[in-house]
Amino acid sequence: MATPDGRPFVVLGVSGGIAAYKAVELCRRLVDAGCHVAPVLTEHATRFVGELTFSALASEPAQTELYDAAAVIPHTRLGQSADLVIVAPATAHLLARYAAGMADDLLTATLLATRAPVLVAPAMHTEMWEQPSVVDNLALLRRRGVEIVEPAVGRLAGGDEGAGRLADPATIAEAALDLLGRRPADLAGRRVVISAGGTREPIDPVRFLTNRSSGKQGHALAAAAADRGASVVLVTTSALPAHAGVRTISVETAAQMHEAMTEAAQDADVVIMAAAVADFRPRDPESTKVKRELGAPEIILEPTPDILVDLVERRPAGQVVVGFAAETDHVLEHAAAKLERKGCDLLVVNDVSAPLVGFDHDTNAVHILSQDGTTVSVDLASKRAVADRILDRVMDHLNPSAEKDSR
Ligand code: PMT
Repeated sequence: MATPDGRPFVVLGVSGGIAAYKAVELCRRLVDAGCHVAPVLTEHATRFVGELTFSALASEPAQTELYDAAAVIPHTRLGQSADLVIVAPATAHLLARYAAGMADDLLTATLLATRAPVLVAPAMHTEMWEQPSVVDNLALLRRRGVEIVEPAVGRLAGGDEGAGRLADPATIAEAALDLLGRRPADLAGRRVVISAGGTREPIDPVRFLTNRSSGKQGHALAAAAADRGASVVLVTTSALPAHAGVRTISVETAAQMHEAMTEAAQDADVVIMAAAVADFRPRDPESTKVKRELGAPEIILEPTPDILVDLVERRPAGQVVVGFAAETDHVLEHAAAKLERKGCDLLVVNDVSAPLVGFDHDTNAVHILSQDGTTVSVDLASKRAVADRILDRVMDHLNPSAEKDSR
């Protein structure tokens, strides 16, 4: 329930882990983005960070007690008022209590007493994060509709390294603002063309060469761009459903993708090649099924056209072109060379050998390289959150003075 002045009411739950200090920045970001933030700290959270810090930054004093003489039944007031409940960091203990439906402190009671969407950002040591009990609790919460901002891989308490580090506060804030439907329509009036999925290059009428791309990252980009007001064309090999409002062109081969992208990109403001295009295709695909009895066939390959390079060469003035790179070693070095070779404005590189990154996962982690020499890194997050970070960089490159509707 929004506050009388129209601000969304966000309960920010903080449980007891070393990452609790990062919730302070999250609180500030949410307030800056125009939210009314009501912090709720578990008893363990107060061991890591003081109530006073949150009270000073938030929209109302931080609360910690289920039984508070001044605030009658605070959990129902908070739960019923909330437009969104966030728990960041969410410890393994908090996830277990929430999954079990316990209500033994103000935060878990608020989680039970709300009908608002809930966003959970777990943080814990890798050993705990990988425990089957934690994995199961998280899967259960996900099935119940709880949104999860996956933790990143990196430095943990006590100098350890691994998966379980709280996601970046900026990433959590973005996911929260998405759930509140408060993303700016900063791409309104813009035309965005995106490719997605792995191309399929026929060997014969029943067999083809392809790769592991599912199309999830490209489809997430299309959904994010549409939500930000763009008119979106998605050229895809994937059967994943497209976001309402996105015009989808289904293709299969690199040649078909080339033709569709060239056509759609002509009057686009932004072109993003997230597809995994085959670099080679069978030169002489058979018109009838190759028979096993005739022995193993020799398949001669020929290179496919480099769609990205061609789009860069043909692009109209002011158009922002984004390429992707799937790498497995010397990631930043190879990406920098690819950015130069392809000539696009931005190159999004993912290390597809890293856990939960790249092909077919629901999550990704990327570095976004720009021709101006800057690199922005996005820690492991949902493909949708990564898509929004990429579009944020695109916004930096779009010429704001360009006439949007003159073409
Ligand atoms: O689809 P998902 O399962 O969600 O996985 C996402 C992804 C891993 C496919 C995506 O994040 C990604 O990395 N896409 C690019 C994969 C790729 O083909 O990378 P590359 O380094 O081989 O190609 C570099 C760039 O050139 C890409 O933008 C590619 O689209 C483009 N290219 C490549 C070959 C070709 N013939 N024409 C091209 O345009």
